[in-house]
Amino acid sequence: MKSLGLVLFSIAAAGQSPPGALPDGPGKDLVEAVCGACHEPTRVATQHFSKTEWQSKVLEMLQEDPDVTQQERDRIVDYLANNFRPKINVNKAPAKDLAEALELSAKDADAIARYREKNGNFKTIEDLKKVPGLDAAKIEVHRERLDF
Ligand code: HEC
Repeated sequence: MKSLGLVLFSIAAAGQSPPGALPDGPGKDLVEAVCGACHEPTRVATQHFSKTEWQSKVLEMLQEDPDVTQQERDRIVDYLANNFRPKINVNKAPAKDLAEALELSAKDADAIARYREKNGNFKTIEDLKKVPGLDAAKIEVHRERLDF
């Protein structure tokens, strides 16, 4: 088992917020104020949705509430869609989906798919970075969203 110190260090090193807090970013204050009115604002972090799905969820939550303007709703949706997007399974997703979800070129996504076919499933992000020609930094920015 990891020691607590190591766990805390890993969290800090990965640039994550501690559990129970929302990640920083534009719109965070608004989410805390508006979405925290009925439940813990961190409740939003229980779901990972695409932008369209977040739009419906925000509408479902706020309904016609006249106190929250359309502009505020848009900012909330942007914050949520940026921070709580669905994960992508790098062992199962077809190359096309990898390209879209990880903002890679078709060539890079194909390289991942071919490497996977040849070498078997990726187990960690480090395996993924071994794919020839792939820019490790481009993978690193999506660390939180990778599923194996
Ligand atoms: C008017 C009260 C109210 C407000 C404001 C509100 N919610 Fe909720 N929310 C609820 C209720 C009621 C539930 C379900 C009951 C529960 O388990 O607490 C819920 C549950 C959720 C859930 C988890 C379950 C699910 O149905 O997906 C998410 C995610 C969520 N809300 C997101 C949001 C977001 C995002 C906002 C801000 C835009 C927000 N909520 C604002 C009342 C509210």
